[in-house]
Amino acid sequence: MIITIDGPSGVGKGTIAKIISEKLNIKYLDSGAMYRALALYADMHNIKENDSDKLKKLLIDIHIQFINEDGIDKVYLNTEDVTDEIRTNEISRLASKFASLEIVRGILREMQKRIVRKKDYVAEGRDMGTYVFPEANYKFYLDADPQIRAERRANQLEKILGIKVNKSKVLEEINERDELDKTRAICPLHPAEDSVIIDTSELSIDNVVNKISDRIIIDG
Ligand code: DC
Repeated sequence: MIITIDGPSGVGKGTIAKIISEKLNIKYLDSGAMYRALALYADMHNIKENDSDKLKKLLIDIHIQFINEDGIDKVYLNTEDVTDEIRTNEISRLASKFASLEIVRGILREMQKRIVRKKDYVAEGRDMGTYVFPEANYKFYLDADPQIRAERRANQLEKILGIKVNKSKVLEEINERDELDKTRAICPLHPAEDSVIIDTSELSIDNVVNKISDRIIIDG
């Protein structure tokens, strides 16, 4: 079984997808973390989006893994735990840029399909239900007002990084990322035709989880 949850930045997809995966006891794929890890690697090696030779080499060298350590999903970039490092605003911005490149999306799409091949998954991202797993059993698209998403993102960043963040700057970045994600030529963000669209602006996490779980029928 594949359940896809797509939507823009800061809509709560990650939190919701994790809860659904725990509730149904199936695995969780955070595809955004893969774009973030790739952006971090490029940043560390000073590789720019337009340097196609270095980018091709990067795509061969890079190894992204999700490892569960004591119940917590960790993101490994080659041998390094980058779980927290990939959550900065700078990496969010860079990830969005690299995500607009066909060569990057092609490689990550193959990795995502390979990961999901043998087990039941909740796959979360921007193009899970539209381009990566069009055959998914259940598709959801979460949306929310940008102002509310910025607030959620700022709170999340403060919790993870332990620093105060400028909320209007986060809103600016959310709008910028929406624009990049929705208007890119390859696999732009949009709801799949057969997805259930949920506006989470006024909903609690529990409300959203219930709306999703109510639609999923587990065989056996
Ligand atoms: O969901 P996120 O904020 O962690 O995603 C980081 C960036 O990666 C986001 O700007 C868009 C990109 N992304 C994508 O293009 N396709 C996906 N399936 C997931 C993320």
